[in-house]
Amino acid sequence: MIQNSNRVIKDKKLLVSAIKNGTVIDHIEKGNALQIITLLNLPSEKKVVTVGLNLPSKATEYKDLIKVEGRELTQEEVNEVAILAPNASINIINNYEVSKKFNVEIPKTIDYVVVCPNPKCITNNERMETKFHITQNDKGVNLKCHYCEKKYNKNEIKSYNS
Ligand code: CTP
Ligand code: ZN
Repeated sequence: MIQNSNRVIKDKKLLVSAIKNGTVIDHIEKGNALQIITLLNLPSEKKVVTVGLNLPSKATEYKDLIKVEGRELTQEEVNEVAILAPNASINIINNYEVSKKFNVEIPKTIDYVVVCPNPKCITNNERMETKFHITQNDKGVNLKCHYCEKKYNKNEIKSYNS
């Protein structure tokens, strides 16, 4: 009995059910799923979204995971996910099978979606699009505003244009 329940806990497929068609964002660094859900504006869509937080993972001990039924993420969205989850893998599911699997890649720049946290930044005072330059070091991902030139780590970004 104990052996059975251990097996259930280890098998992530039983923790969050399989989807028929759509996108699975897997291996999200623990704690980043909610920000990704906000970034992709998933609550406002009429698609089924299932989320796993703090799931056991071979590589990192814990991970988050998001499954979006009935929707393939665009390349642009995948790039945005990369900023918040540089180690995530994207799985496209077709008829219950993984039809594509790839790792996200951090883009050099990100236009429009990220709101600059600096209230004095021109992008918060004029009707204009934002632009950030992305860099990565051993401490993580940084975003530098093209306009006010302030640098932020990904956790300092609080809101998104959607
Ligand atoms: N998945 C799903 N629905 C399906 C098929 C797969 O939700 N119909 C999910 C799995 O739960 C897993 C991810 O898609 O989170 C990738 O599936 P798979 O490649 O079968 O799993 P792993 O081999 O564990 O993937 P990896 O090697 O990338 O860890
Ligand atoms: Zn700015």
